[in-house]
Formats: sequence, C-alpha cells, structure tokens
Amino acid sequence: MGSYADEINKRRTFAIISHPDAGKTTLTEKFLLYGGAINLAGSVKGKATARHAVSDWMEIEKERGISVTSSVLQFQYGGFCINILDTPGHQDFSEDTYRTLMAADSAVMVIDASKGVEAQTRKLFKVCVMRRIPIFTFINKMDRDANDTFELLDEIEKELGIATCPMNWPIGSGKSFKGVYDREDKCVITYSDTEKGTKEGQALQIPITDEDALVSNIGEQFKEQLMDEIDLLDGASAEYDLDRVRAGELTPVFFGSALTNFGVEIFLQYFLKMTTTPLPRKADVGLIDPVENEFSAFVFKIQANMNKAHRDRVAFMRICSGRYDANMEVKHMQGGKVMRLSQPQQIMADERKILSEAYAGDIIGVFDPGIFSIGDTLCMPKDSFQYEGIPTFAPEHFARVRQLDTMKRKQFVKGITQIAQEGAIQIFQEFNTGMEEIIVGVVGVLQFDVLKYRLENEYNVEIRLDNLPYEHIRWIENKDIDLDKLSGTSDMKKIKDLKGNPLLLFVNPWSIKMTEDRNDGLILSEFGRN
Ligand code: G4P
Repeated sequence: MGSYADEINKRRTFAIISHPDAGKTTLTEKFLLYGGAINLAGSVKGKATARHAVSDWMEIEKERGISVTSSVLQFQYGGFCINILDTPGHQDFSEDTYRTLMAADSAVMVIDASKGVEAQTRKLFKVCVMRRIPIFTFINKMDRDANDTFELLDEIEKELGIATCPMNWPIGSGKSFKGVYDREDKCVITYSDTEKGTKEGQALQIPITDEDALVSNIGEQFKEQLMDEIDLLDGASAEYDLDRVRAGELTPVFFGSALTNFGVEIFLQYFLKMTTTPLPRKADVGLIDPVENEFSAFVFKIQANMNKAHRDRVAFMRICSGRYDANMEVKHMQGGKVMRLSQPQQIMADERKILSEAYAGDIIGVFDPGIFSIGDTLCMPKDSFQYEGIPTFAPEHFARVRQLDTMKRKQFVKGITQIAQEGAIQIFQEFNTGMEEIIVGVVGVLQFDVLKYRLENEYNVEIRLDNLPYEHIRWIENKDIDLDKLSGTSDMKKIKDLKGNPLLLFVNPWSIKMTEDRNDGLILSEFGRN
C-alpha cells in the first residue's frame, strides 16, 4: 500500500468560494500559473479573454479543443497534487454550488477588501460550517482602497461567526499599498505590481527589526502605524491554533492582490502547510479512512449535455478512499450492480484525459447512461457500504409548471423527472393532482430558464411557469404524520415530493415558527435527505 498512501497524502482538494467579482477567478488563474498548468505569460490575450479563460473553465477547454465544460482543475505545486473545485457563481448559482462543497476538504474564501462579506459568501459559508471544514480567507484587491483592516476582520467574525487569525497584515491600501507584514517570519514583504500573468515579482523582505530599511521602503508614517497595529494585533486577535483551523472554528486570514499577483504565492504556501490531506468520510458502517481502504467514491454532481452533439451526462464523483484503476470493477451500491466505469476522465486545466488511475481526493467524471443519482456510493465489489447522503438544499424560489400541449404528457414527465434527477431542480406535487401540474423549486432563479429551455430543446415540450410567493421550504422529520391534523398558518402550503414525503411551503420565517409552536412535537428541517 506504500506508494498509494504517498499519492493520497500529497493530495489537497479544496473549493473556492466568493461573492461574484471578489476575484475568485483571478486568484485561481494565478494558482494555476504557479503550478505551471497554464501559461499566460507569453500570450497576447486581452485581459478580459485571459480572465474569462478561467472564469468559465469552458473557454480554456474550447481553446485547447476540448469540447466539454468542467469545474475541477488539478495542478502540481511544491510536491502537492492540488484539486481546485470551482463553485459556480453569478447567475449560475444553484444547488450544484452547494454540492461542490460536499466534495471538498477545505474552502478558500475570497473577499473583496472594499466590500467585505457579501450575500453569496454568506450562503456558501453556511454549508462549510455545516460540514465543519477548514476555511481560509484571502482578502483581495488591496491595490484598491480597502476598508479598515480591523473592521474587515470584525465583520467576518460577526457576520459569519468564525474567529479570525490574520497571518499577515496589510500596510496601506490602494495607491499607497506598501505590502504585508508576515507575522510568522516577522518581516515586511514589499508590494510589487508585477505584470499580469507573470509570477510573483521580486518583492523585498525586510525584517521588522531593520528600521532604516523599513523607513526607506514604506516611509516613516506607515512604519509607525504598522508598529502600533502589530502591538494591537498581538494583544487582540485570536491566537493561531491549527486544531481550531482544522475544526473550522478559526480562519487564517491573508491579504493580497490577485490581479497584480501580490501575496498569492505566500498564501498558497501557507495554505498547503495548513490544509489537510483527504479527510475520512462518514458511511453507514462508520468513518472510511482514505488510505486504509480500497477504492470508494460518491457522486456529487451530474452534468447533462457535456457534449452538445450527443445528449450525454457525466457523473462527477469524489474518490474518498484508495486507488481507482481504469478497467477495474466497482459496485454501484444504490443500483446493486457491479460494473466498469465508462470512460473515466479527469478534467484538467489543459486537457481532458482518459484516466488510467486516480486516488482518494481526486474528482473523476464518468459517462452516465442515466443510472447514477446524486449521493450514490461506489465501492469495491466485495465491500458493502453507503456514504452519508448529500442533503437536499432548500430551494428559495418556487413556480407552478404547466405543460401547454397536453398530448405531450409523456415527454413532459420524462424530461422534468430527468432534469430533477440530475439535481438541477426539485419537483413537488400538490396533494390530489397528477404529474400534469407540478411545483418546481430552485436555488437560483436562472434554473427556471434552464428548465424551460431544456424542456423545449431536448424534449420538445413547451411549458408555462407561474411564480409562487413561497420562499421557504421545510421537510417534516416526523414519521407517520397526519397532515389533516396539522395546524398551520393561512399562507402555508402542503405539498409532497415524488416519493410522497410531505413538505411545507411558507412565505416568511414567521409562519414557520408559528406552525412549530402550534403543533407540539413537530420537527421541521431545512435540509432534505436524498
Ligand atoms: P470572480 O471570479 O470572483 O467573479 O471575480 P474575477 O476574478 O472575475 O474578478 C472580478 C473583477 O475584479 C475583474 O475586473 C478583475 O480583474 C478584478 N480583480 C480581481 N482581483 C483584483 C485585484 O486584486 N485588484 C484589482 N484592482 N482588481 C481585481 P473587471 O473589471 O470585472 O474585468 P476586467 O475588465 O478588469 O477584466
């Protein structure tokens, strides 16, 4: 098992979260540059093209003649094999964004220094907390005027409820950004605005004790301010504690500027020292250790139409233990079948290659003929266990869907069920109605458009969507509940999922509380189980 343990132990698998425009894409691009995965240095691309090349992932692949989109990048750096999971943002925000976090062992949170904590970060952060994974914070855009550093840290602590430990400390911002003070090395690293796309410039490292050099490089005023702030910091900020970082209770904070490529490599180096090797994962037989066990994986994402020419689906799985070898037989627990995975692929920044092997921590995509569902487990034929399911995240937008041509009922049912199975939407029914009229719930409103478009284009079915006023959904945890006896509020709606489980829709949080108060023993949950 020797070399295989080494391979697993050098893996680091993390997700990047941020609010749109905080600089997630730019930071990822710089990471890749250090890993040598892409080389933008010599290219004559405009800034926008270069940026979108990574932002959409797709563009890189198009450029290199690969016809699929992906959301996982792998690169090597400093002896580590790093897997970055992109969390789709902007209008693409959807349940997939949440699910991606289920496949990561840690998260990097990018915050815009002039904006602080924003809405989307808050939502994603909740999922990280639920999973108790370590979170590393990169405060970006220090080359622009930034909010007060103490206030930024305070905001993270208050808004997100996590303690912060600045690993470095910015000196000025915007036009007068001078660099950062490294608290461990006790030296100032001066800011150098390197050309975009090149590696980090030759920044100076000045020991904090070398006052003359400090004054001549950052100026008397900034030196004085820094000294005061260091004093304040040493007294006030949380102490660095790796155990608390790993428990997701304390976030190490770094400052830099992804665009000008300052502070990125420093961040990457510290991050790699602090983050974990692939973590054990909970299954129905207990924790599965990544090294001690043979191959196992779970499906966290299903993507349809990877290749427009063929209506294909790719199931993304996170390998949780052991080594995956192409051609080996695996057992799909939920389907109860032993099989060979079809065309297992690893999708890299620069190529999409058919895999010969992969290890715990890696993400692989396999062709899915429609047998996999989100949360499914794969393991060795001799083994028998299932990983804890991926929760169903509460949709926040609901609409009633009607098919316009009742003759096409069969296609409609097929289409909408398949799209739901891929996890892009959730479907519900009223009690007493059939499949001709259903309620769809989504995490991001764009999914409504995607649903309409896909039903029309792939299944040739036209639909009408009527928005409903509900914003909150609750799963009922109590078994054998008599819904007729449930005393709710006037704005509450009782619905069921396709398995017949009852759920409640509410317009506001107040009604949820009211319903809980009125029904003794009623247990409502924000996360559904797959
Ligand atoms: P995202 O993936 O989190 O959505 O953000 P992205 O990296 O696309 O960055 C959003 C905008 O912020 C981009 O500018 C990008 O160039 C800029 N940006 C990223 N990091 C920094 C930084 O450290 N400093 C400064 N000053 N800007 C940064 P844009 O105006 O949207 O696009 P472009 O026209 O400049 O390319």
